[in-house]
Amino acid sequence: MTQDELKKAVGWAALKYVQPGTIVGVGTGSTAAHFIDALGSIRHQIDGAVSSSEASTQKLKSLGIPVLDLNEVDSLAIYVDGADEINGAMQMIKGGGAALTREKIIAAVADRFICIADASKQVDVLGKFPLPVEVIPMARSFVARELVKLGGLPEYRQQVVTDNGNIILDVHNLSILDAVALEKAINALPGVVTVGLFATRGADIALIGSPDGVKTIER
Ligand code: 5RP
Repeated sequence: MTQDELKKAVGWAALKYVQPGTIVGVGTGSTAAHFIDALGSIRHQIDGAVSSSEASTQKLKSLGIPVLDLNEVDSLAIYVDGADEINGAMQMIKGGGAALTREKIIAAVADRFICIADASKQVDVLGKFPLPVEVIPMARSFVARELVKLGGLPEYRQQVVTDNGNIILDVHNLSILDAVALEKAINALPGVVTVGLFATRGADIALIGSPDGVKTIER
């Protein structure tokens, strides 16, 4: 199976967590795009979606799924999204698609975070995938210097402006042993909007796609 076929398998497997008559939190990326396709097949059974990016919003709307403003929504039963890395403690690196801030906000609202990923995303230690950090543009150099002090090698993601009008620094050279502490330290830097470490609020369920099938891991 190709990596995209594995992504498709987990995207469709996540449908079983969608309750009729609810609003669904929807992530961003190629795996989440398969989930959106799956959601389209039951669009008449759900009340709509809350979206983590302009790209996912466009795709949801193109399939006839109403997209609601998060401010109109009191609660969400589930948030379904991919990951760049996930460890055994269900902590993740996210933001490869630059949507980390909205992803983190919706994940915070949702009762359950369902991570959908192919098996290549499973790691023992987070950090091989460069850690994305969304930064206010004027703070770029300051935040980069602070990230070096934390042991990282930040790289400015060229030509990328987030949906919130900010820039991304991708931090290389990290081996993240205490993800909660690093998440707090980076989030505390003035000028940082969000770090793409989802450790304080990790996944509750992971659907992992491999050639043997979709494995469900519950926290
Ligand atoms: C976007 C994300 C994605 O979930 C992450 O990059 C995984 O992407 P893909 O499903 O395309 O492999 O965090 O900001």
